[in-house]
This record gives sequence, C-alpha cells and structure tokens, in this order.
Amino acid sequence: MIFVEFLPHPTYCFNDHFKEENMKPKVYITRRIPESGIIMVRERCDVTVHPSEEPAQNDELMRQVSDKNAIICLPGDKINKALMEIAPHLKVISTFSVGYEHIDVQEATKRGIYIGYTPGVLTDATADLAFALLLSMARKIPQCDQFVRDGNWKAMGSPLHLFGTSVWGTTLGIVGLGRIGKAMAQRARGFYMKVLYSDNMRLNPTEEKDLDIEYRPLDDLLRASDFVSIHTPLTPDTLHLINTEKLKLMKQTAILINTARGAVIDEQALAKALKEHWIAGAGLDVYEKEPIDPKNPLLALDNVVLVPHMGSATTQTRSAMSELAARNLLAVLRGTPPPSWLNPEVEKIRPLSEVKMI
Ligand code: DGY
Repeated sequence: MIFVEFLPHPTYCFNDHFKEENMKPKVYITRRIPESGIIMVRERCDVTVHPSEEPAQNDELMRQVSDKNAIICLPGDKINKALMEIAPHLKVISTFSVGYEHIDVQEATKRGIYIGYTPGVLTDATADLAFALLLSMARKIPQCDQFVRDGNWKAMGSPLHLFGTSVWGTTLGIVGLGRIGKAMAQRARGFYMKVLYSDNMRLNPTEEKDLDIEYRPLDDLLRASDFVSIHTPLTPDTLHLINTEKLKLMKQTAILINTARGAVIDEQALAKALKEHWIAGAGLDVYEKEPIDPKNPLLALDNVVLVPHMGSATTQTRSAMSELAARNLLAVLRGTPPPSWLNPEVEKIRPLSEVKMI
C-alpha cells in the first residue's frame, strides 16, 4: 500500500519528467554567496555552486560555464571573450557586485548576453566602511587597540600619548560623486566637515546646495583636503588616477581613503608617499592585487589601516546583494528586464523574448 502511494500518477510519463528537468535553465554560481539568493534561483533553475568562498580556478570556471544558460559571478572571475566563446548557451551574467571591471561588457553585449549588477543595495555599507577607515586612521584605533592588548596602558588617561587628529570641522575631498560618494558626503555633514568633490560630471547648483558640497578640479581638491576619499569606478581613465604627482599635491597631514578599486591609486607610489611621509596616512579596503601580495610594501608600514575588501560586508547588505543578483538573473530568464541592468542596449541584439526560458 505504501509502495502504491509513491507510484507516479498513471498519466505521468517518465519521458515528460525527463524533458521537464532538462528544460530548467542551468546556472553556475562561481562562489558560495549568502543562501537567500541561491534559494530563489534553485526554485526555477538547475544550480551548481562552486563549493568554496575561494574563486574557482580558471580552467574549472571554463569547464563549468560551457553548458550553462546563466551565471552569478564575482569580481576576480575573468568573464572575458574566451569564457563567452566556450559558453554558447549563456544568456545572462549576473554579478554579485556593483563593480564590473571583471566583465567584458562590450563582448557580452555583442553576443546578446544580458548583464545584471547590484548597485544601490551596498551604497550605505560601503560609505560606512569608508568613514570607519577615516575615523580609524584619524584616531589611531588599531594602534590604541594594540597598546591596550600589549599591556602598555600604565597611566590613567596618558596626556601625551597616541594622539590622533581631529575629524570634525575639517575638509573632506570626495573623488567620484556617485551613489557612494554622495553617501559619504551625508556622513561628513554629521561631523561638520566642509565637503569638496571632484567628478567628470558636475552637479547643478541646486544639487550642490542640497548636498552642501563644493566642486573642485581634482588638483585643487587634493591640495585643500584633510581627508581624501576615493569613490570612482575603475576605468581606463581612472587607472592610477592618484599617482606620484597627485600624492605630492596632498597636505602632509592628509589621510587618503580607498574603498573603490585598488588600481585607482598607484600602490607603489602610495607606499613611497607613506614611507617618506608626503602624506600622514591611508585607510585601504582595496588593492591592485587581491588578495594582497605578502610582499606588498604597504604591509610593512604603520601609517596605513588595511582591511580585506569588506565594503559591502554586512549580513544585511550581502543578503540584499545575493537576492538582487538572483532577481536580475531570473528576470532575464523570464524574458523581462532585470531590475539592475548594465547593458540595456543588448535588447537590440537579442530581444528579451528570445532569452526567455521560464
Ligand atoms: C562591489 O560590489 O563592487 C564591491 O566592491 C564588492 O566587490
């Protein structure tokens, strides 16, 4: 009797089952990401997740994508022409990031591959971390922590010790006034800071007034700021935007913060600037090479705070990113526009109706 209950319905044909299963879109997720997004994708797709937080080796990545219709990828994965060539069924690339320098967008668009990304949901978390780095550097938080742990705290309220520098009432220069740059400006207002910005798109006077910020060409901003925070994407134009020449313009007391992309700063030049005290310090979340090279000269310096690319690393933000990456992917496979779409022009090459699978 029990056995009979488990038999399929008499009209059910095993061939139908086989067909149905095979029609599910095949999805590869290149690393373990928060479960909430994976659960959403699994409901409609046949999902393979690379079983580690470490990226898959390139040959494994290539092998995995060859029969997939969609991928969720991360910065560090090389989503280039070679990968797209090997993946003829690929319809959507959904990156678990706002940055997309790891994707050959032009090549994907040419091939009719839709690209989703995750702007917006990580704006505040990243601005929070940029401000945390600023405060850590200004008030020597890592050194103070070490001082206490090392048992060096001998006198009550040492009056000449571990001096930092004031934050309130100083000048913050924001390089790149996108979403995260604006969120940084809002935080600075709470510290009564004067906020300058530089960007290739200048806001109109009303917007500048509303945000209480002033435009400056980059060189002027660097000369005038006590803190400089980088919020520009990495593009051919911003590669090594902050180089020896620019670092030499900064105040000797200035602190440089980067939560955008490592290569916006020439790291060798920065290490020299910090070592020779052209500037007072730096707070970095991002590096030219990630994970950081053990021989990176920055590791030997004590006037820099280093964190391992943690801008969006809060429970809430990473779950929101996972869900948005899933929504972008599922929307395309349903033949509808993804909520955060990087290359809308792709629709002219391959209409949404042609990528619909579910
Ligand atoms: C992003 O989303 O681009 C963050 O830097 C995480 O990689």
